[in-house]
Amino acid sequence: MRHILLTWLLCIAAVVGVFSARIPTAKPPKGFATTKGPKFYVDGKPFYFVGANSYWLPLLSRQDDIEATFRETKGAGIKVLRTWGFNAINATELGYALQSGLTFYQVWDNGTWTLNDAPQGLKRLDNVIETAGKYGIKVILAFTNNWVGYGGSELYVNHIAGAGATHDVFYSDPRIVESYQRYVEVLVNRYKHSPNIFAWELMNEARCLGDLRGGPACVPGTDLISHWYKDQAAFVRKLDPYHLITTGGEGHFYKRDEDIGYWLNGQWISDYNYNGQAGEDFDLDLTLDDIDFGTYHIYPQYWYTDLDHPNSENFTIGDWGARWIREHAESAKKANKPVILEEFGVFGLQNKTEIYPKWVKTALDTDHAILPWQFGMLGLKQNGGNHLFKYEDRLIDGASPNDGLAIYKNQTAVWNVFTKAAKIQAAKSR
Ligand SMILES: *[C@@H]1O[C@H](CO)[C@@H](O)[C@H](O)[C@H]1NC(C)=O
Ligand SMILES: *[C@@H]1O[C@H](CO)[C@@H](O)[C@H](O)[C@H]1NC(C)=O
Ligand SMILES: *[C@@H]1O[C@H](CO)[C@@H](O)[C@H](O)[C@H]1NC(C)=O
Ligand SMILES: *[C@@H]1O[C@H](CO)[C@@H](O)[C@H](O)[C@H]1NC(C)=O
Ligand SMILES: *[C@@H]1O[C@H](CO)[C@@H](O)[C@H](O)[C@H]1NC(C)=O
Repeated sequence: MRHILLTWLLCIAAVVGVFSARIPTAKPPKGFATTKGPKFYVDGKPFYFVGANSYWLPLLSRQDDIEATFRETKGAGIKVLRTWGFNAINATELGYALQSGLTFYQVWDNGTWTLNDAPQGLKRLDNVIETAGKYGIKVILAFTNNWVGYGGSELYVNHIAGAGATHDVFYSDPRIVESYQRYVEVLVNRYKHSPNIFAWELMNEARCLGDLRGGPACVPGTDLISHWYKDQAAFVRKLDPYHLITTGGEGHFYKRDEDIGYWLNGQWISDYNYNGQAGEDFDLDLTLDDIDFGTYHIYPQYWYTDLDHPNSENFTIGDWGARWIREHAESAKKANKPVILEEFGVFGLQNKTEIYPKWVKTALDTDHAILPWQFGMLGLKQNGGNHLFKYEDRLIDGASPNDGLAIYKNQTAVWNVFTKAAKIQAAKSR
């Protein structure tokens, strides 16, 4: 019964999605990315791509490092770079930030933030976006973070709702929404005429839980995050009718036909990636009018710490990821919109070498763009190679920060998986 009802709802959603698709009043400006059905286009030509995640690029202060990174990125055939459009500090950190040359865009104090438009502020982001264009690369820019890294949503929550407030108020407190929108407006107005922007992203990895504890407003069935996506996407669309808009979510599902889970110590564990507990409803979110394409991430080693338990029989991270890719391809088909594999990573060089070819092939076969987490760069010159960025990210011997997931050119077998994929995507983009 539930199965049939759900199928019907999805059919209706798909039909509604097709007919209410946004019809721009005029053609998008030259060089802007657009979508039609399941495909991306740039200037009328299909656009398939391999992208890169490099959140650390706007943190660099030397232009030769930035140019070298883009030159290598371009050389690898990468067409889209995803990076953070947020970077916020507390006023108490200001002295240190200025002294040590940190990049920061917002300074929080007394319940509100002020913009840093100075050379250590948005000027650095301006430069990254401008330099990207010089190398034929477009940028996906995320407006804030679900996590504390680089001062995301938790600073809005702590400074506006107060210490002790739960993570869910980020999506529901009108004062926080207003503050977030004030920042979004700054970024969108700053770059809305630039063909170097590929898409705006509402938040990196929106979830009911952050690094703060969750709260009752965001549980399965409240659709709090879907409502927030809908409202924020509409807000951005009003400011900028032409650039693409996406969620930045991990692609968690809600309302599957069956309870998906696994056995652990003789107990059935319902899987939060499928039961709505994470907060997203990938199928629903993809039908929203102002969400032009969907995003999903893959981190089985983070998401299933019990993965190799003997009771989770035949459950390998490689197979799990391939299934996750196929499930998102099915959702994309129903919604008739593109989706991208926006982040993925496994630890260990051998795991990478074994698993990435399989995931990349599955994603490419279903026409998804891919953006591994994360592209690394060797031989950076900044500060002799040992500069503290923030939150313990360091350049060691001139290598960009390594969280265990960075892919450097010296890891030839892994690197080649992506350069080969880039060639396949380029050949399809005609
Ligand atoms: C903090 O904000 C409140 C309310 O806006 C204001 O009355 C107060 O003067 C501010 N304090 C400082 C130190 O800026
Ligand atoms: C910044 O301020 C928030 C909110 O008061 C606080 O929770 C956090 O610990 C502060 N972070 C730093 C690095 O001082
Ligand atoms: C695991 O694999 C074995 C061998 O291929 C098969 O017999 C068994 O049914 C599988 N178990 C599950 C739960 O799929
Ligand atoms: C490779 O993946 C397996 C399965 O998750 C894990 O147990 C192992 O530690 C990984 N290897 C490395 C070097 O991280
Ligand atoms: C590649 O370079 C990084 C950073 O210097 C280093 O940690 C790593 O061991 C190198 N890997 C290989 C396979 O040489």
